[in-house]
Amino acid sequence: MDPANWKIHNASGSRRVIVTKQLPGERWLEFLTRADCRVEICTATDVLTVDEIKAAMGQHCDGAIGQLTENWGDALFAALKAAGGTAYSNYAVGYNNIDVDAATRHGIPVGNTPGVLTATTAQMAVALTFAAARRTGEAERFLRAGNYNSWLPTLFLGELLWRKTVGVIGAGRIGAAYARMMVEGHKMNLIYYDVHRNEALEDYIAAYAQFLKSRGEAPVTCTRAETIEDLLQQADCVSIHTVLDDTTRHLINAPRLAQMKENAVLVNTSRGPVIDEAALVAHCRRNPSFHAGLDVFENEPQLAPGLAELDNVVIVPHIASATGWTRQGMATLAAGNVAGILMGYPVWNRSDILPFLEDAPPQAAPSIVNAQALGLPVFKD
Ligand code: DGY
Repeated sequence: MDPANWKIHNASGSRRVIVTKQLPGERWLEFLTRADCRVEICTATDVLTVDEIKAAMGQHCDGAIGQLTENWGDALFAALKAAGGTAYSNYAVGYNNIDVDAATRHGIPVGNTPGVLTATTAQMAVALTFAAARRTGEAERFLRAGNYNSWLPTLFLGELLWRKTVGVIGAGRIGAAYARMMVEGHKMNLIYYDVHRNEALEDYIAAYAQFLKSRGEAPVTCTRAETIEDLLQQADCVSIHTVLDDTTRHLINAPRLAQMKENAVLVNTSRGPVIDEAALVAHCRRNPSFHAGLDVFENEPQLAPGLAELDNVVIVPHIASATGWTRQGMATLAAGNVAGILMGYPVWNRSDILPFLEDAPPQAAPSIVNAQALGLPVFKD
């Protein structure tokens, strides 16, 4: 552990918490300072290895905030436990980088940061949908290269998604927010696939359809697809919002890509391995009128060979949650998880997490994914 790469906040704190990357804002530091933590923050931008994180935890470490790029498995939770640690939070809502069972075995609560990424991530999925459908990446490269000589009736014709069908795979918070942005903003019919029915979303769209009818406009529809294939065949654009686990790895593969409309748009802001990226490259090569918008990649930060050269793919570097408000909110929740556990607070069990961003946050740990498995007490008013 090179001390030059670490900065210390509240040096006199009696509890030691390590944070493996600099986080935005100041409020998260206030949470940890109030819990009497000395906070040691890694200022390097490269991904820390398991050994580097172990070295940073050392002999005494009460808690840690880690990143989605790090592999928090048995080795790290054993080391945290051995250092006297009792709290961990991921600085992310997704936690496929964590072996939660291993953490539970070592008695360590694992936090995540839901509820502050919803609109921000959905908005990026919308941005990628239209960037891909309207070919903005290609057109910008053309313009910047000095190729724009004259307006032409056929220059960069794209897809009009207005009143067409949007497909959403995974209708949790972010998927539902994306669905509403597309349905309300572009009057699209929705088809969604999820193992759980999203009644609230269905009711909302039914009410919106009634509203449109009351204004003399054609209503929109909402269908829960029985199979992913049904959705892929019907949708003009498809956005993926599932978690990554053994059931969703390569959920979109060559046979399923072949089910999609030739001029469809496929968007992914969830986790890269949900798409077989090599199969997507082959599909995009064969079908120039098919478009994809990707925020996440199968082997980040690497891209599958050929992906970056494809004009019909829009790519951004895993920034779907990158707004100041969201990233500061994530920091507050991650710090709140660690501080809350260290303070012996109960666990928040409501879906509305925003009270933690207010002036008098609840005395609770905002989101602990293995709370039940560990039998942690639940917050009561
Ligand atoms: C998350 O929090 O899981 C996101 O991928 C970060 O953008």
